[in-house]
Amino acid sequence: MPQYPDYRPRRLRRTAALRNLVRETRLDPASFILPLFVRSGEKLRTPVGSMPGVNQTSVDELLVDARKAASLGVGGVLLFGIPDHKDEQGSGAWDDHGPVATAVRALKQELPQLVVITDVCMCEYTSHGHCGVLVNGEVDNDATLDLLAREAVAHARAGADVVAPSDMMDGRVGAIRSALDDAGFANTAIMAYSAKYAGGFYGPFREAAESAPSHGDRQGYQMDAANAAEALREVWLDIDEGADMVMVKPAGPFLDVIWQVKQETGYPLAAYQVSGEYAMIKAAAERGWIDGERAMMESLIAIRRAGADVIITYFALDAARLLRARSAGSDTP
Ligand code: PBG
Repeated sequence: MPQYPDYRPRRLRRTAALRNLVRETRLDPASFILPLFVRSGEKLRTPVGSMPGVNQTSVDELLVDARKAASLGVGGVLLFGIPDHKDEQGSGAWDDHGPVATAVRALKQELPQLVVITDVCMCEYTSHGHCGVLVNGEVDNDATLDLLAREAVAHARAGADVVAPSDMMDGRVGAIRSALDDAGFANTAIMAYSAKYAGGFYGPFREAAESAPSHGDRQGYQMDAANAAEALREVWLDIDEGADMVMVKPAGPFLDVIWQVKQETGYPLAAYQVSGEYAMIKAAAERGWIDGERAMMESLIAIRRAGADVIITYFALDAARLLRARSAGSDTP
């Protein structure tokens, strides 16, 4: 490699046009997914305190947000449901007339080109807030598989393009795949939350989805933040069981895992920039401590650079808007 003064890296940083020309990584709204929280009712839009700009909405208002996403070229939406009633089993999860199924039908009718993904998990539906059924106070893995499969089939029946299990039970991808196939939904894809880590970054989400566990935590089923080799095992298991797409979550604190999963599997990879990552940037920007737009774009480009094909982010609309505005004289990524 030539050395100074023959090679001067600064030559290509001198102007916005040069920087833009040699940029290695670019963001595209088509690879963004916007998470949405839906509940029953009409004309309902309740702001989530710890996530400025994010709301719980009824289906009619969800369509307003989804139309915005579609018109900005955002690739898809990821739906979370807040049921009217919760019980021990989480039976609202497979309700064909619940908020998620109703929203899916409305979306596929009005915006058929927008990819509709549903989160498949029990925690929003169980009275105790855990991601599966409790037996002797512990989340019972195998008893939960049937319930997850019922939920996934209900979402597929409503028309979801992709179902996304986020519960972290062992064997759920296989159970969901065979239930979908048996029910005639061989073409419904699975995006598996494969390497989902337990930790402190989900707090604001649990306010949004009203899904905080009433006792204990999720360390018995979600991954330990210290482990990366285990993430690869989780990812390969999900691929073997039929996952079409795998996921690492959270994104920013686990960029090394994103990198390894992409390098080793080559599979379509999603990364979830979770509620806490969003809230940190929003909160610091509100205080004037950081430039929120720049931090948003840097955090997204880092996730992309690490190897994510798809980014699930609460910034999807803001980032898409910014990318549009900049596409003429784009400078900062
Ligand atoms: C459901 C689920 C969670 C998130 C996505 N699906 C919460 C959790 O595991 O407690 C978190 C998303 C976010 O924080 O933005 N299990």
